[in-house]
Amino acid sequence: MPTHLTIPDLSQALDLLRAGELVGIPTETVYGLAADASQPNAVAKIFTAKGRPNDHPVIVHIAGIEQLKDWAQNIPEAAYQLAHAFWPGPLTLILERQAHVSDSVTGGQNTVGLRAPAHPITHELLRQFGGGLAAPSANQFGHVSPTTAEHVRHEFTTDQLKLILDGGACHVGVESTIVSLVGGVAKLLRPGGISRAAIESVLGTPIEHHTDQASAQQRVSGLLDSHYAPRTPLLLGSLTALLRIAAQEQAAGKKVVLLTQQENSENHYPQHQMPANPTTYAQEIYATLRRLDQDKFDLLLLETPPQGAEWLAIHDRLNRAAQQKLD
Ligand code: TXA
Ligand code: MG
Repeated sequence: MPTHLTIPDLSQALDLLRAGELVGIPTETVYGLAADASQPNAVAKIFTAKGRPNDHPVIVHIAGIEQLKDWAQNIPEAAYQLAHAFWPGPLTLILERQAHVSDSVTGGQNTVGLRAPAHPITHELLRQFGGGLAAPSANQFGHVSPTTAEHVRHEFTTDQLKLILDGGACHVGVESTIVSLVGGVAKLLRPGGISRAAIESVLGTPIEHHTDQASAQQRVSGLLDSHYAPRTPLLLGSLTALLRIAAQEQAAGKKVVLLTQQENSENHYPQHQMPANPTTYAQEIYATLRRLDQDKFDLLLLETPPQGAEWLAIHDRLNRAAQQKLD
């Protein structure tokens, strides 16, 4: 996030949002496709524009902790502890919803996801707006999340999305960490910008990592979840496994590109070196996948990044983006 950023005039964005229209908003994680969370017709436009199934809940973005009780009820102390520690920032809390929160936002569940994003433009927008903004990532359902305003522009027509607030490149680069506090038990639903260890240290207890049953099953049957995916098939694996595939595919006349952790001079395939540092990797991964998608390769061959807690969110996204895992 640029520190010297000047806040643009937000009146057009506020007018559009109040009129029930969509606005593209920068956050520190990825860009969001925002609508007034209190207008079900406006929220419905998000689902149409994204081609997203109606029963998928969307996160409500708020200016800060003072607004938690506008959207949630029976809020446990742990929610306040986490919000104090990490808001504004890349953490989404799942809490019991207030009765007025519409089914279009919650996907018909009795819970709501809440987050106060840290980007100065969107923070100021939320402050002036006063209410909540329902916003999923601003991409077509299943596609790579956008980390620049230009990425968002490529995802929607100008009829669907009249205004995108340009806040520069997202400095976290992967989506927020999602923690559910429903029923008094803290569960990590999605790893992200804030580490599990940081959350556990605030709560003073270990938290469960809830794995996504549906996608685990799909993976077993070989039919991978197509989330966060580039249009070009992506294979994830060890360098040895990828070099074997590269040779086969090239022999069959296919154009492949290798995305490796280290420059490898012993092969003659087009190569892209991935960052060794997980923070930089997260910042760049989605933009890299989008760029390579435009280069008309037949196959993207991505070396599995290192293991370790700080790579957790990256592994989570790559596992979902890949068509196949080779090891
Ligand atoms: O960083 C982020 O979280 C970005 C930026 C724009 O804030 N947003 C984002 O939204 O990633 P989206 O819709 O692409 O992903 C939101 C995730 C979904 O997996 C959804 O199922 C989950 O949040 N979610 C939202 N509300 C929920 C709820 N009430 N219960 C369980 N999961 C929920
Ligand atoms: Mg998304």
